[in-house]
Amino acid sequence: MKITVVGSGGWGTALALLLLENGNDVALWSHTQEKTDILRATGENPMLSGVALPKEMRFTSDLADVADSGAVLMATPSYAVRETARRMKEFIRPGTIIVSASKGIEKDSSLRLSQVIEEETGGKCPVVVLSGPSHAEEVGRRIPTGVVAAADDLTIAQQVQDLFMNQRFRVYTSDDKVGTEICAALKNVIALCAGCCDGMGCGDNTKALLMTRGMAEMARLGVALGGRKETFTGLAGMGDLIVTCCSMHSRNRRCGILIGQGKPIPEALEEIGAVVEGYYAAANARTLAQRAGVEMPIAQAAYEVLYQGRDVRGVVDDLMSRAKRSELEESWS
Ligand SMILES: NC(=O)c1ccc[n+]([C@@H]2O[C@H](COP(=O)([O-])OP(=O)(O)OC[C@H]3O[C@@H](n4cnc5c(N)ncnc54)[C@H](O)[C@@H]3O)[C@@H](O)[C@H]2O)c1
Repeated sequence: MKITVVGSGGWGTALALLLLENGNDVALWSHTQEKTDILRATGENPMLSGVALPKEMRFTSDLADVADSGAVLMATPSYAVRETARRMKEFIRPGTIIVSASKGIEKDSSLRLSQVIEEETGGKCPVVVLSGPSHAEEVGRRIPTGVVAAADDLTIAQQVQDLFMNQRFRVYTSDDKVGTEICAALKNVIALCAGCCDGMGCGDNTKALLMTRGMAEMARLGVALGGRKETFTGLAGMGDLIVTCCSMHSRNRRCGILIGQGKPIPEALEEIGAVVEGYYAAANARTLAQRAGVEMPIAQAAYEVLYQGRDVRGVVDDLMSRAKRSELEESWS
């Protein structure tokens, strides 16, 4: 099948390699001609260094390429999803499956990214969400990985499962798009916080506390928005939270480490040099939580540090001195 991968960061490139390996005709779209020229000339993407791009892979900066694609994979940063989907609309054939692999919530609208794509393509294409514990650096090196393909219609999710799955990349299907996307966006906020813990010199106990309570509040919001509780204990939920909070591949965690060490936020973001989705997601989590009437003390603390200049030690003290609770009651009510 001809597939266009829209977005040539580390993730789009790793998935383009996987789709090529599965026997597809793959075009990798970059948003500038300059980027396309670099990929073509060097046979390597600096966002996925050390991984050779085979000569069978095609490179393009023309979105008209999606016109004769059997499927389109979107992997731009979240801030570019709307504009890119809007530009794709005139070319894409109705019914073409769009796989959304970006992780985030749209700034200002606080929409999930599949909703943004559906809006911009006029609802004429089914949108499937691909998410789970999957660092591009490892998928690009063919390390065994497992993810979830979530769609409203399970038969469409199965088609995406068939497209991506192979001996080193397992794909499970799900019909919970809401839960899957909330997990994908919010785990980055918790990963920033986990990095802060590491940067401040807190221990494993602190990180386990943060991850567990972080998951509880992610699930609280996701369920309030219509997601399924079980999704939060699955690959897109707990799986992705573990990998993002514990790995040095995670730019959200690395950014948090710098903040925890005392680096000013703009400098920390700049030093990472790639999109830090948790920074944007922290603002959206707060908006969504307020709208849904759900308490999210950790996301609120992240917001205060990232946007209101609060000191990380101060918010840790606040979190540790919250009123006494019952663990299970606070998790789901
Ligand atoms: N890297 C991973 O391991 C990974 C895994 C799963 C999901 N994701 C998600 O995939 C998305 C992309 O992440 P990434 O790691 O590939 O990013 P990246 O930081 O490696 O690259 C971002 C790319 O976006 C391009 N870009 C910048 N502005 C753009 C625009 N206006 N339109 C289109 N493209 C633009 C840049 O040229 C760059 O190539 C993010 O939402 C991320 O959360 C990443």
